[in-house]
Amino acid sequence: MRVRPRGDDPPEPPAVQPRGDDPPEPPAVQPRGDDPPEPPAQPTTVLILNGPNLGRLGSREPEIYGSATLGDITAACTAVGASLGLRIDLRQTDDEAELIGWIHEAAELRLPVVLNPAAFTHYSYALRDALAMRTAPLVEVHLSNPAARETFRHTSVVSAVADGTIAGFGPQSYELALRAVARLLGR
Ligand code: DQA
Repeated sequence: MRVRPRGDDPPEPPAVQPRGDDPPEPPAVQPRGDDPPEPPAQPTTVLILNGPNLGRLGSREPEIYGSATLGDITAACTAVGASLGLRIDLRQTDDEAELIGWIHEAAELRLPVVLNPAAFTHYSYALRDALAMRTAPLVEVHLSNPAARETFRHTSVVSAVADGTIAGFGPQSYELALRAVARLLGR
C-alpha cells in the first residue's frame, strides 16, 4: 500500500519575513540645538611674581616707583584679573632661590607668569635659565622704564625668554601685562 500525501495536511508555516510593522530604528544621536550653554571656563590662575625690594613699594624711592604699595597693586590686579577671567596669585620675595622655586612651580603647573624680577633682571642667569623652561605665557614688567635709567639697568637677561616686556607705566604696567597674558591665552 502506497502512502499518499494527504490533501488536508496543515499548510507549511510561512518563511520568516521582515515585518513591515517593526518599530522604527531609534534615531542616531544628534546634537541638540537646545542644549544648555557651556558653563563659563574656570578662571586661569596667573602668578604675579615680584623680586627684591618690591615689598617696600610705597616708601621705596617714591619719586621713581610712586606711592602705591604692593597691596594696592594686588587689589588692582585682582579686579582687572576678574574682568579677564584670571585668578591672581601675587607673591614677592627678596630671595633668588625662592623666586626660582616659584618659576619651577609655574612650569610644572603650566601657569602663566607676570614677572617683575627687580634687580635680578639685570644679572640673574639662574633666573633666566629657570624661565627658559616655562610652559605658559611670560610677561616681564617694570614700574619704571629701565631703558631711561642707569646704564646697568639697560640690560635685561630675562627679556629674551619672555613673550614681551611692559615698562614705565607705574602700577599700570601690571594691568597691561595681565591684558597681554589674557591675549596670549586667547581670551
Ligand atoms: C624695577 C627696575 C629695576 O631696575 C629695579 O632694580 C627694581 C624695580 C622696576 O619695576 O622698575 O627693583 O624692576
